[in-house]
Amino acid sequence: MSSAAAPLVIAIDGPAASGKGTLARRLAARYGLRHLDTGLTYRAVAQRMLTYGLPLDNVSAAETAARQIDLAQLDRDALSTHVIGEAASKVAVMASVRAILVEAQRAFAQRLPGAVLDGRDIGTVVCPDAAVKLYVTASAAVRATRRLREILDRGGAADYAAILADIERRDARDMGRADSPLRPADDAHLLDTSEMDIETAFQTATAIIDDAIAGRNGS
Ligand code: C5P
Repeated sequence: MSSAAAPLVIAIDGPAASGKGTLARRLAARYGLRHLDTGLTYRAVAQRMLTYGLPLDNVSAAETAARQIDLAQLDRDALSTHVIGEAASKVAVMASVRAILVEAQRAFAQRLPGAVLDGRDIGTVVCPDAAVKLYVTASAAVRATRRLREILDRGGAADYAAILADIERRDARDMGRADSPLRPADDAHLLDTSEMDIETAFQTATAIIDDAIAGRNGS
């Protein structure tokens, strides 16, 4: 059993637009933990490459960009564009870039009182000893519909077929890469939110986490 002073780490993985980010933020608030959206770290590397006009397969430039990432300065709004997301999934295939970012992510997780990290490889690679691992997914069609709604709600314009194609392309790249492919850890709890709203997903997740915390405290 872990000591009471050990950080509580909750690992949340899943594909693009699965709702894991919203869930991770709410869980961090609920349990008084810090939160890191690790996708933003890959996005920040991609943004630097794009800003300086560097080819996205330039490994040494991407490594330099990765070393310069400051987790305290990640600007979600600036990093949330479609172009940066697509570029991030290309940068994320480079093992040496991943190693640099994973080291920073692990250091973040290990500070007390602990943290909720969300991404693609948290339960499998970044925090394999996390107290709780959730794998949040939904069908590609449901994820595309949710993403479309978000864009329309913000007053933007978007095309369902293009969003679906984008999600499927990103899934294939994230699940098919050699280093740290997206997959559920063997001990992850699967949360398929295709037919669940965020409130139900949140309640389901808190029941799983409360159980794990009770087990950790030996009750
Ligand atoms: O989650 P988000 O869409 O912001 O992630 C952008 C890209 O960063 C993903 O498509 C994936 O390729 C990469 N990523 C990753 N490992 C993580 C988080 C994100 O490879 N832990």
